[in-house]
Amino acid sequence: MKKISVLIALSMVCFSSLGQGLVLRQDNIDEILSQLTVREKASLVVGAGYKSMLAGQFGFKVPVPGAAGMTRAVPRLGIPAIVLSDGPAGVRIEPKRKGSDATFFCTGFPIGSLLASTWNQELVKKVGAAIGNEALEYGIDVMLAPGMNIQRNPLCGRNFEYYSEDPLLSGTIAAAYVRGIQSQGVGACLKHFAVNNQETNRFWNDAQVADEVLREIYLRNFEIAVAQSKPWTVMASYNRLNGIHTQEDKWLLTDVLRTEWGFDGLVMTDWTGRRNTAAQIAAGCDLMEPGKRSQIRELVRKVRRGELSEQALDSCVCRVLDLIVKTPAFKGYKPSQAPDLTSHAEVAREAAEEGIVLLKNEAGTLPLAAGSRAALFGVGSYQLLAGGTGSGHVHRPYVVNLEEGLSREGFSVSPQLSGLYREHIANHRPRKSFMAGMLGSPAAPEMSLSREIVNAAAAEADVAIVTIARQAGEGGDRHLPGDFLLTDLEKQLLADVCEAFQGQGKKVIVVLNVGGVIETASWKQLSDAIVLAWQPGQEGGTALARILSGRVCPSGRLPVTFPVDYFDLPSSKNFPYDYTGRGSMSGGRDKDRDVRNVGYTVYEEGLDIGYRAYQKAGAPEVSFPFGFGLSFTTFEQGEPVYAGNTVSVSVRNTGSVAGKAVVLIGGPLLRAFGKTPLLQPGETTTLVLPLLP
Ligand code: BGC
Repeated sequence: MKKISVLIALSMVCFSSLGQGLVLRQDNIDEILSQLTVREKASLVVGAGYKSMLAGQFGFKVPVPGAAGMTRAVPRLGIPAIVLSDGPAGVRIEPKRKGSDATFFCTGFPIGSLLASTWNQELVKKVGAAIGNEALEYGIDVMLAPGMNIQRNPLCGRNFEYYSEDPLLSGTIAAAYVRGIQSQGVGACLKHFAVNNQETNRFWNDAQVADEVLREIYLRNFEIAVAQSKPWTVMASYNRLNGIHTQEDKWLLTDVLRTEWGFDGLVMTDWTGRRNTAAQIAAGCDLMEPGKRSQIRELVRKVRRGELSEQALDSCVCRVLDLIVKTPAFKGYKPSQAPDLTSHAEVAREAAEEGIVLLKNEAGTLPLAAGSRAALFGVGSYQLLAGGTGSGHVHRPYVVNLEEGLSREGFSVSPQLSGLYREHIANHRPRKSFMAGMLGSPAAPEMSLSREIVNAAAAEADVAIVTIARQAGEGGDRHLPGDFLLTDLEKQLLADVCEAFQGQGKKVIVVLNVGGVIETASWKQLSDAIVLAWQPGQEGGTALARILSGRVCPSGRLPVTFPVDYFDLPSSKNFPYDYTGRGSMSGGRDKDRDVRNVGYTVYEEGLDIGYRAYQKAGAPEVSFPFGFGLSFTTFEQGEPVYAGNTVSVSVRNTGSVAGKAVVLIGGPLLRAFGKTPLLQPGETTTLVLPLLP
């Protein structure tokens, strides 16, 4: 009888809490925490696996097929699952779904290096807002972007996702992007924290960096972005830092990020699979992605055995719940599945136009004379690379190439060349595969042309444009021959085109459709003009053509130094360059856990990164310096006036066409920057810029 009454009393307690319908609210996280079992707590810090990423292939039922990951729900307490998606150049989800004719394309925005080349925070914020809006309307809660590792060495395969060699530019542009995404009620994620500056052996590499260098360069940009934009989340990196995997590094994630910088959001792992789960929780890494059930079991076991404090787990769970209550999923937002791709394409074009950098323009080669006929050389002219491969790839609805862009601007192109290149591209269509579909396919190889064909083009066209294209992506670093350096075929093509066209007094323009820095010093004197288009997103061809035609005045500036020789770069001494020329996919498994035996990179160049390395007496020349970029107009900049934490500078357009100017303040190091609005000839403006302390 006593037993029965106890049972009745117990069930009344349970029912009373259910009866009150205890569900997660913004203001009851502590109460919810007290109701969660240890298993439920563990399930909240372990992601829901690869289901959403692989849904397109296997037909799994998930809210957003192709999204990188999810969290796990606890329905009895009203805790929903939330959806996380890549990536920096736009939302990366499956564009089509089994059994449906609807499409879910996302706008392909320009890559990170191009966004940084705009030096325009308002514009980058606009890009972030458009991406955030697409995320919202497709049912994403957190965007796994921006990517913001320092571009330490040009061979890093993911530099295209990142911004700059300079921490102020990188951190400030990242902050603008985050503010844009989060203005839509969707979270952003600063990644990859930290010191993920190479792809070779990326899961295990130990980046060995002195504290002073970390503080001044590799953490500084993250610190700036945290302070300026309050990101909802941060992603730890794959690599180790001074011996410790960053996702297990309490010093990095708790002492520096939270205690020193005041970050109050969530930290997640990169998509590592299983590592030392308990160490991660203890370090303050709140969410393990993509997440395995075995990690949940391990956490429960460790808490029960007293090997992991439940308090530490609770702190992570609270941060997961803090994140969840901010999300559209929690707020019951019903995604329309129909973001305004047309207006976002305009934003992509606008960004591309401001981030394209004019590197050379001899004797007014550009703008092109109205109605000119252009001979387009190089596969990239017809198959423009909008972005890089890997998780930064975006399933965009189309890419405008240079040929289409020029035609829209009223130029004609040589039909014979166009026919040849189109046939070549059709013959080199990459084989369809799941991975290529998900992460992007390689471009067609460059094509050789006979002297006769080049000469014939020179006879009928007014001007030549040679596009040099480079593709790179996640999982491998770039190579010197054929990548950083021009290939023999490209050198020959450039030499032949210059001889044929310049021999007839016709100009040659080189377009660089690249994700990262390439060698320019050995050939730049050949061409009359050089335009760095980067990988300019789906509207790249439109933007490029509008610059070539002069409708848009170029205003991009380099966020990174172009060296004369790769080996001039101090980091070339230890960057793990693969001399075999083979792909360098991620390294093996860390079986013995001996941190010294699985690869490391000593950042022995210290602070000599990017332009900082070239400021010393006796430093080598550069091919194009940090901050460089030409315009079709001229500007006069007044003396900077310093007042407290700001500096004001007046800028006057002294040329004959409207344009925007970039202002860089500093010396020897960048301390402030800004971009003017469009200034008409004769117009003056004054920029008031915050100074980096
Ligand atoms: C990448 C991250 C990405 C994640 C999810 C990882 O391999 O390093 O940048 O967000 O995959 O796709």
